[in-house]
This record gives sequence, structure tokens and C-alpha cells, in this order.
Amino acid sequence: MYEEIREQICSHCWHGVERPCPDLVTCLTKGPVCHEDKAAAKARRDITTRLRRDKLTKRIIYVGAGTCGLGAGAGKTLTAVRTYLARRDMEADVVEVGCIGLCSAEPLVDVQLPGMTRVSFQGVTADKVDDLLDKVFRGDLPEPGMILGQFRSDGLTSWDNVNYLDQHPFFAPQTRWVLVNCGIIDPSSIDEYIARGGYGALATTLRTKTRQDVCDAVEKSGLRGRGGGGFPTGRKWKFALAAESEQKYLICNADEGDPGAFMDRAVIEGDPHRMLEGMAIAAYAIGASKAYVYIRAEYPLAIARLKHAIAQAEAYGLLGDNILDSGFDLHIIIKKGAGAFVCGEETALINSVEGKRGMPRPRPPFPAVRGLFDKPTVINNVETMANIPGILARGAEAFAAVGTEGSKGTKVFALSGKVSRTGLVEVAMGTTIRTVVFECGGGIPKGKKYKAVQIGGPSGGCIPTQHLDINVDYESLKTVGAMMGSGGLVVMDEDTCMVDVAKFFMEFIQRESCGKCIPCREGTLRMLEVLQRITRGRRAEQGVEALERFQGVMYLNRLAQVIRDTSLCGLGQTAPNPVLSTLRWFRDEYEAHIFERRCPAGACSELRTFVIDAEACTGCGNCKPKCPTDAIVGAPQRIHYILEEKCIGCSGCFDACNHGAVHLAELVPVAAAAPAARDESDAVVGVFSKGAFRDWHDGRGLIRE
Ligand SMILES: Cc1cc2nc3c(=O)[nH]c(=O)nc-3n(C[C@H](O)[C@H](O)[C@H](O)COP(=O)(O)O)c2cc1C
Repeated sequence: MYEEIREQICSHCWHGVERPCPDLVTCLTKGPVCHEDKAAAKARRDITTRLRRDKLTKRIIYVGAGTCGLGAGAGKTLTAVRTYLARRDMEADVVEVGCIGLCSAEPLVDVQLPGMTRVSFQGVTADKVDDLLDKVFRGDLPEPGMILGQFRSDGLTSWDNVNYLDQHPFFAPQTRWVLVNCGIIDPSSIDEYIARGGYGALATTLRTKTRQDVCDAVEKSGLRGRGGGGFPTGRKWKFALAAESEQKYLICNADEGDPGAFMDRAVIEGDPHRMLEGMAIAAYAIGASKAYVYIRAEYPLAIARLKHAIAQAEAYGLLGDNILDSGFDLHIIIKKGAGAFVCGEETALINSVEGKRGMPRPRPPFPAVRGLFDKPTVINNVETMANIPGILARGAEAFAAVGTEGSKGTKVFALSGKVSRTGLVEVAMGTTIRTVVFECGGGIPKGKKYKAVQIGGPSGGCIPTQHLDINVDYESLKTVGAMMGSGGLVVMDEDTCMVDVAKFFMEFIQRESCGKCIPCREGTLRMLEVLQRITRGRRAEQGVEALERFQGVMYLNRLAQVIRDTSLCGLGQTAPNPVLSTLRWFRDEYEAHIFERRCPAGACSELRTFVIDAEACTGCGNCKPKCPTDAIVGAPQRIHYILEEKCIGCSGCFDACNHGAVHLAELVPVAAAAPAARDESDAVVGVFSKGAFRDWHDGRGLIRE
């Protein structure tokens, strides 16, 4: 497929790096423009139609082969598809596409037969391939559970009784600008991108717009940076445009360090040319001739696709010297990062690209004035870049028509956690969190209750039930102590302990702090210690230790403010957010941990104990060897018991029991102190009855199922 679109159509034209044609993209997509030749125009149209798969001569099988798909077994599915075709000596194109967004349904396989619309199937593991292809090639369909939906296409016959993909609850609320091609086109084919209008915005920009025009258009669109801060992109570009320098740089930030975030990776894996086109337009707008993509080395597939895409774009004269004969040069270099979270911070990132240790620098001067190698530098996120071609192609007004007053366009979220459908969701700004979680995500699995969604990663906060109807936009989210961040959206159910969540983020931040400034290095460690103390079991705590524990909690708020106000970079400045947010919305959980030594969600292992339901226990003994502290007693075929004082709440017995006999005992303290078991015969911690409260037989407390 590669280079197909560039085939010489007639004797008049030839495009290439050596002889760049300013009309290349128009010529490729709309037919030859330099001369009137009906045959050539038809040949060009035919190629484009085929590349857009509007007309097929051969069957096509698409396999979702992004990192998420491959993780779900798409590699084996691909092999099974190829084996199927080879064994039957059948002709079909096999296309590896990126992720369409519904990661939880992977491996995804789409089949398109000539004249018919493309149908998408979910959960296609290797063992299901033969049966699926047998049926679909015969014109039948597999069981409805496997069918995700069919694509809408004018001029193609649709399948009976198959819903359209855009009606699927996951896709229906979405508005796709950035992900429009992801999972649909072959990311390794520049031809397919061009055939769908790709590089058209760059061509028009270079031909018809001044740098100032481009900056104005982006400013007018209202686009704000998608990397977390939400700074107006057009304004940032104007600072760099105004800076006088013989050399300027553009950096695309693909570090993506937030836990739970995978939007940027998916965009690069699924549609790398969109980001490259955005970068080329951005570089032109600010006058940069050299650009970097800073991407973590843990993204090997994204890096490979990016390398390939850059090489293709250079071969087409869409990157490199004298792009489309415009006099504009742009060379893009991939810079791999080692995956330190702080390297996503723009000044640390600059240090890292310069070959120094990734530590932040004080600002001002801002990078747009003095950045990489002390030259004016614009740093933008992958999603920000991927929005640019759409803005230039469809117009600033069209982009600004989507979203809210202060937040225009769409936002891509990586939806994960306790939600039925996980994956990438792109919604218009202003969509509610409820829509994202309960419509796109399909709500909370196993009949559990929603507790919160954590948004914005370590810099963000939680959104509790009472604020589920809040709009996704930069300002609204701040009113509830959360923030947009880069797009990680982790859903939590009733089994999630919010103190544990705060501890998780603080551990992350503490580990990732570069250590340059004291408030961040020491302050986050102190915060972590406070959280560790309140989630720890009683052990042999002395009075003074108890006092320290309470004191730490009392100072938590003040400590948070000091860290926020005095840290050098955004990492420290936002580090206390998850703690402050959970404290604000889930104070009762903190209090249960601090005053009652109880974890209401049953998640903090040191604060929980397991019990065995005597009625359900079969005496199989599966649980016993799984207990690392020998807390389980009981003879074979006899009821087993857990010694409370030995139980460390690891849940090994719970996981091992096939009879549902092991339960979490949520201890409600009573005035009487529990006497310690004297020996095994005295070690019966409770008689357990399903769905009921029961007094402990020895009066030590209550056990709640
Ligand atoms: C600790 C820290 C980590 C960050 N990580 C990223 C990142 O992985 N990707 C990103 O685009 N921005 C990240 N940012 C924000 C960038 O510093 C910068 O604001 C952003 O790349 C600018 O691009 P935008 O205007 O398009 O959002 C991070 C900021 C901080 C403080």
C-alpha cells in the first residue's frame, strides 16, 4: 500500500523530495491539478476510493493491534486469521489498525466484504477466528454477543439486524475529532491518511496562510492545551512567534506519565500522521525548523509507528526540506525518555532533551521565550497537536462551536477502573461525568455502587456521587476540587478505600519527585507517612505514637498548603490535590481509619480481618496453605477457623475459597476489649451467618458481612 498513492498517474506529473510539488496533496486527493487529463483524474480518483475502502474488490479483515489489543491476544488472533486464509487458499487483505477505543472488548476484528458495510466483532480470541470467518464469509453472522456493530457507509449494503456502531452506547455520546481515524485506518499507511483528507490542512496552510494567520486561527478556535494545564494554545504560539531568534524549536510532549492515562499512546499508535501534521502546522506557525517528539521508551509500538510515519512523510516531501515547495523546512526527531513522571514537566523535559538530568528550572523565563538550548520553544501535548489539522481544515468556528464557553472542542479520556466498558472516550467539552461513566462506560459492574471518579491523575481530584452531573470542562472541574489533567479517568466503586487512593498517589509522587526542592522532596514524604500511619494496624502503638498520628492528621491541611505554595514545579504544586480532594469528599472514611482503626471499604489490609462462615465451610482446606501467617486452623473435612490475632488481612484465604465461605469481617468496636485467643480451641472468631449481623459468641464485637 505504501507509496501507492504516489504512483505516476500520467506523463506530466511526478512528485518527490527532489522535485516537491506544491499541489501534491490536492493532486493526490482531488485529481491532477496541473493539467486537464480525464484519464489521469479517474485513475487518481480510483486509487483514493480504494484507499478509503469505499469500493472493494477483495475481502478485508481488520485486527485491532494497538498495545491494548495485543495485550488482549490480538497477536494470536492475527496469526489465526492468516492461518485461516492460507489453509483455505483464500484471498483477503489483513489490516492491522490501532484501537478504536473500546479496549475492554478486545481483541477486535472487523470484516468487510465487497459491496457490504464493515462489521465489528468483539472478544475475537484466536480460537474463535475460524468459526467467525466461516460464518461471515458465508454471509451469516455469529451470536449477537460477538457483534459490536456495523459502520455506516453510503453506497454499501448494510447487514440486516445489526446495529450501527455509532448507536452503541459506548460510541453514541462521543464526538470524535482527534480519534476520528483511530481503529479505522491503517496507521502504517500515509496513503490512507491522505485519502481521508490528511495533510490537506498543512498544504492549504503553507499555500495560503501567514504564520500570524495560523496563530490567529488557533487562538480563535479556543483550543487549550490538553496536557493538563489548559493554557490557550494560540496565545502560547504567539509568544514564540514574537520572540526573535534565528532558531526556534517545537516539542511534542508524548511523555504521558500520569497513572491511568493512555490517550497519547493510542493516538500515536492509531493515527500518527494526524499528530505529525499538527506538528508541521505548529512549527510553521511559530517559525521552527526543528521539532522533537519526547516519548517514553515504554511505548515501543508507538515509537515504531512514529518512526515509520516520519519516514513516509519525508519521502512524500511533507516533512524535511522545502515542504511542498513552500520554502518551509521541518525535521522531526524522536527523543526517547526513560519514563520519569517529572520529565513530562516542560522545563524538566527541556533538560532531558538537552541530555541533562530531567529536573525542572524556575520560570520565568518561559520556554516560549527561552527554552530548548536557550531558544524560543513551544511545547504541546500530543492531543493538542492532533487537534490542529481539524481546526485548520474545518475552521476555527467549527471547532469553537463544540464545547462550553471557556472550554472548546473535545477531550479524550482514558476510562478505566471499576467500570463495565473501559477504553478511550472522546466527548465534547461540557458532557457530564455521569454520561461518560454510565453511558459510555456502562456503569459499575457486579451491581456495586459508584463511589468516585479520579480525574487528572496525581494533580487531580475525585468527583463524588453528588457531583456526577458536573460538566467536563476546565472551570467546572475546579469548582469541585478536581481538574481536567491530561485525561486519566479512573472509576471507583464502594470497595475502593479513598484513603488508600490518596496513599497510592502520594506514594507515586513521593517516588517520582526529582528531589531538587525541599517542599516537594520532604513534604510529600511527610504526607505519605501520615497516610501510612492511619492505614496501619494498631500493632503495639504507644501513647506518644498515637499522639503523633493525630498530630500528623491535624497538620495535613497546612502541610498541603506549604507544599503547594513553595514547590518549584507543577509536580510538587499539585501533589497534595488527591489528599485534599479525598479529605474534602470522604472525610468520614478518614475518620473511620483514624478514630476507629477501621477501613469501611475493607481495602486496607492491616485494618481488616477475615472470618470463615461455619455454615458454608466444607473443610476442603484450600485456604490453609495460602495463609502466610498460619492463621487458619481446622482438621481436614472439619470446619476451619481464622485466628484473628494472626490474620494480616492479605486475602489469600478469600481468593482460595471456592465455596464463598471466607468473608471480610468489618469490626465494629465495642466497649469491651477483645480477649486474645489462648489456644486454637479458643480461637473461634465468630459464627457467621450469611446476610446477617450476629453477636460474636464470646462477646468480643460484631461481625458484619
Ligand atoms: C509533573 C508533570 C508532568 C507532566 N506530564 C505531562 C505529560 O506527560 N504530557 C504532557 O503533555 N504534559 C505534561 N505536563 C504538562 C507539561 O508540562 C506542559 O504543560 C504541556 O506539555 C504543555 O502542552 P499543552 O499546552 O498542549 O497542554 C506535565 C506537567 C507536570 C508538572
